[in-house]
Amino acid sequence: MDGNGRWAKQKKKPRTFGHQAGSRLLHAIVEESNNLGVRVLTVFAFSSENWKRPEQESSFLMGLFIKVMQREINELHSNHIQVRFIGDRSVLSETLQQVIRNAEDLTSENQKMVLQIALSYSGQWDIATAARSVAAKVAGGELAAADIDEQQFAAELSFADLPDVDFFIRTGGELRISNFILWQAAYAELYFTDVLWPDFSVAEYRKALQEYALRQRRFGRTGEQVSAS
Ligand code: IPE
Ligand code: MG
Repeated sequence: MDGNGRWAKQKKKPRTFGHQAGSRLLHAIVEESNNLGVRVLTVFAFSSENWKRPEQESSFLMGLFIKVMQREINELHSNHIQVRFIGDRSVLSETLQQVIRNAEDLTSENQKMVLQIALSYSGQWDIATAARSVAAKVAGGELAAADIDEQQFAAELSFADLPDVDFFIRTGGELRISNFILWQAAYAELYFTDVLWPDFSVAEYRKALQEYALRQRRFGRTGEQVSAS
């Protein structure tokens, strides 16, 4: 969800104004996803690297996450959406950790859609965390090093119970992944748009999904093989 700061700057407003506008758009995108039957929506709210931002901006964002969760959680729950967070929560404030636990506990049985919020998350952090847990299993004699393969390893990553990423949208014009989901996005279809996140819209989202529907996903096979199956 990139481009909040630049959007605000264009309007001669503080960056925080852009983050607020961005959080309102997220509401619309979640609603549309749920209506369209999207099963899992993961949003990159704050990366491990975003902690390098001025303290004032990081703490504004942490406060905004709390407010947005408090504002949205009941509606999310009544729409049967399961809310989950991925990332290093140990560095979050006790209040935010509590808000996260409450949201996850309240919605844990919901089956319609999963809204996954990446907060203090990075793909490399995820992989390193998984490596640590695999190493602990080997050290404990639970697992032989020779038995570690892609499946075994992937089982230790965040959201191992959910499918890999199918479609990856980045707003705001940058052509990079910026340490978002890495392993689980190995075969994701990538979509980049110059539209800044607060200007992204349900119409832009539909346009992106329509493009996704036209992509042929081969997973290493030939086009002929895929058409035949
Ligand atoms: C939002 O956009 C992404 C967050 C880290 C919250 P930015 O804050 O990166 O906005 P730009 O890229 O400066 O425009
Ligand atoms: Mg940015």
